[in-house]
Amino acid sequence: MISRRSWLSNSLTAIAGAALLAPSELLALQHRESQLAQRLSDTNNDEGYWELVKSQFVLEEELRYFNNGSLGTCPEYVVKATEQFRRTLDGFPSKYMWGGWADQKEAVREKAAALFSVSPETIALIHNTTEGMNLIASSLQLEKGEEVLLSNHEHTSARIPWKHWQEHKGAVLKTVELPLLPNSIEEVVDLFRQAITRKTRVISLVHVTNTNGMRLPVKEITEMAHEHGVLVAVDGAQSMGMFEINLEELGCDFFTSSSHKWLFSPKGMGIFYATETAQKLLSPLVVCRGYDDPSIRRFENYNTRNLPELLGLGAALDFRELVGAEKIESRVYELKHYLRDQLAGDERFALKTPASDMLSAGIQTVEVVGKDVKEVKKQLAEEFQIDCRPMSSHDLNGLRISLAIFNTKADIDYLLGALKTI
Ligand SMILES: Cc1ncc(COP(=O)(O)O)c(C=O)c1O
Repeated sequence: MISRRSWLSNSLTAIAGAALLAPSELLALQHRESQLAQRLSDTNNDEGYWELVKSQFVLEEELRYFNNGSLGTCPEYVVKATEQFRRTLDGFPSKYMWGGWADQKEAVREKAAALFSVSPETIALIHNTTEGMNLIASSLQLEKGEEVLLSNHEHTSARIPWKHWQEHKGAVLKTVELPLLPNSIEEVVDLFRQAITRKTRVISLVHVTNTNGMRLPVKEITEMAHEHGVLVAVDGAQSMGMFEINLEELGCDFFTSSSHKWLFSPKGMGIFYATETAQKLLSPLVVCRGYDDPSIRRFENYNTRNLPELLGLGAALDFRELVGAEKIESRVYELKHYLRDQLAGDERFALKTPASDMLSAGIQTVEVVGKDVKEVKKQLAEEFQIDCRPMSSHDLNGLRISLAIFNTKADIDYLLGALKTI
């Protein structure tokens, strides 16, 4: 992890430099940033630290938000920085849209690459997971009868693109049925291994399911797939930011994700990864000036773009460094265990997410036995101002509880109290 001092010199305000923001805005932002850095380093790594982190988010006061899996929220720091970028853009629109922010955009790419420990030349700054999956599915040249393997837990945004772009050309989509509670990594890898045939070209799989938070063993599946010459595309919508990811170690060919969930960036931003070899298999979804750029930038070129949000993603990545990437991962697991320990052995509840830390992290799905989850969700919202996502697919009747860094143990106690009352 980088030190606070180097974070400050590397941070948004350092990138922003004189040209990006008016001096008074720059000063205000720097002031807020250094105050926050100071307060975080003065607070020991205990509940107080996380209460302080929570206080940085702009969620409504009374709301207990356990629904980060649906959509994240931004910390004040990111909100303010993005607002300033918008204002700067509106101060001189043509200047900033057409090249005035070229270096800043590259700085965001570098930060996104550092998040995954990969080269910036493998990173495109797109809008969301859905877009990245469409880019992959629309590009690959599959022959009639060739197969794409998808798990039965793929999100519609990772299934429909394959259906739309490939099925009508004769490619075959095959579904690998996963148990809700697998016992081991090997069990999951074996299910994919058994489904591979001579015709399999691609495995497209979700990293963390949006249904019950199951974390799939992407590294092991990729190793096995590559032995068979099969490409691997990963939907990282629910994993990016939740725990640390080294994409070179993971080994997949493509990874697409949305930063407006677990990275707490402005909405409508995503990070796309393709190895330099895999990039050669892609062609842009949208074409305009710059479409023949040989670098990965050709996949993010939409002419006029949401640049303040894109730079806001840079601010979100700075915020992550400020809080501490390793700390974030261990906090997510701490919250998971805190929740699970209190539910364990209580017959009123059934956990529908694998227990192992290898197989789940910050999303846990819990059934309130004998109650319809839609009713439970309604009661939590109306009587307790708690937001959770009800999950009824895959034989689930469970509440999907997302545990993010703005959720404290006190919030979990409140949620459990409410569930017990219900
Ligand atoms: C696993 C998964 N994939 C893809 C998506 C789609 O994300 P987006 O709408 O940001 O593209 C979601 C959204 O919840 C998701 O949970």
